[in-house]
Amino acid sequence: KNSYRIASVPGDGIGTEVVSATIQVVEKLAKTLGTFKIDFEHIPWGTEYYKQTGRYVSEDYLDTLRKYDAVLFGAVGSPDVPDHISLWGLLLAIRGPLQLYANVRPVRTFPGTKCPLNTATDGIDWMLVRENSEGEYAGQGGRSHVGQQWEVATEVAVFTRVGVERIMRFAFETARSRPRKLLTVVTKSNSMRNGMVLWDEVAATVANDFPDVKWDKMLVDAMTVRMVAKPGSIDTIVGTNLHMDILSDLAAALAGSIGVAPSSNLDPTRKNPSLFEPVHGSAFDITGKGVANPVATFWSAAEMLIWIGEKDAASKLMGCVERVCAAGILTPDLGGTSDTQGVVDAVCLEVEKLG
Ligand code: NAD
Ligand code: IPM
Ligand code: MN
Repeated sequence: KNSYRIASVPGDGIGTEVVSATIQVVEKLAKTLGTFKIDFEHIPWGTEYYKQTGRYVSEDYLDTLRKYDAVLFGAVGSPDVPDHISLWGLLLAIRGPLQLYANVRPVRTFPGTKCPLNTATDGIDWMLVRENSEGEYAGQGGRSHVGQQWEVATEVAVFTRVGVERIMRFAFETARSRPRKLLTVVTKSNSMRNGMVLWDEVAATVANDFPDVKWDKMLVDAMTVRMVAKPGSIDTIVGTNLHMDILSDLAAALAGSIGVAPSSNLDPTRKNPSLFEPVHGSAFDITGKGVANPVATFWSAAEMLIWIGEKDAASKLMGCVERVCAAGILTPDLGGTSDTQGVVDAVCLEVEKLG
């Protein structure tokens, strides 16, 4: 197969800017290489849609998404809607129900980015694997006696053996596929004595099937210290939904900017289409200014191309993006003076040279 249909869900804020930037670049790539065809179909879900319809997505949204080979997502979140409404209305309404259980977040010092750590003389090259379907994001819990002084609110983390085991296997396989074959399993099994202990047990069991992977365990608080103090000791990391949400923003900042950090929300069984998106959000502070860094979304689209079977096109795209960044054509988050469209145009010029 070499013809693909992609659902484009730009969402809110700079999500629309970086997705439109990415579609320009990927369409140019497909046209120039001529080796595959790709159609992006626009889906207007987001806060505007919510204001008009009372919902963030259409009623049959999961079936709508299932018609596509993959989803390219921007961001969701708006200053005038509470974040828990917008996020559970759109993004979290997709990740869990489509069982996109593996959220993969590569972090690498990138041409043009500066790692702020003097402990990272060789730069950073990590692979973060985030459990993406349960844990602290199970949506369980509730409030009673709302507003009363004796109000109680619970936020229940749910861990299933099936859920932990499948992400653990995925992480060991990911670690095995990388040259250093190192995996760190992050938990908090000193204070959290149920789910986190299950994680430790499952890790030890799954490890038996991967004798070639060198693995260790870290408590999440200590892991933040290790990321800063000994970045070179880390390769692949796996952890819970919330822990890896936090560690992936830290990792992105350590690699230079959240503006270059990509993510893949994968259904490794391939029953459902996977979703690709930058790690960052809708960035209210720069929305509409045309200066959002599109590189995180370019890279996410490259990961999407690999997933759907266009590995060669993906590496060509990343080559073009890296050459543009190395040439200093950078947005302000990386200390540059280019705007989003300037980066798009420069990447398109590089892509043309492939033809
Ligand atoms: P954010 O990632 O939107 O922004 C954090 C900071 O990073 C801001 O200063 C922003 O300008 C900067 N930044 C982010 N992306 C950038 C880019 N591509 N180029 C240059 N600078 C960039 O995080 P936030 O401020 O915590 O959240 C804003 C909204 O986005 C909230 O509603 C939040 O819930 C939502 N959010 C959505 C997603 C998502 O859809 N995947 C992810 C994170 C946050
Ligand atoms: C991310 C985001 C989301 C998350 C939010 C916006 C729900 O921060 O993708 O990292 O916590 O997963
Ligand atoms: Mn996050």
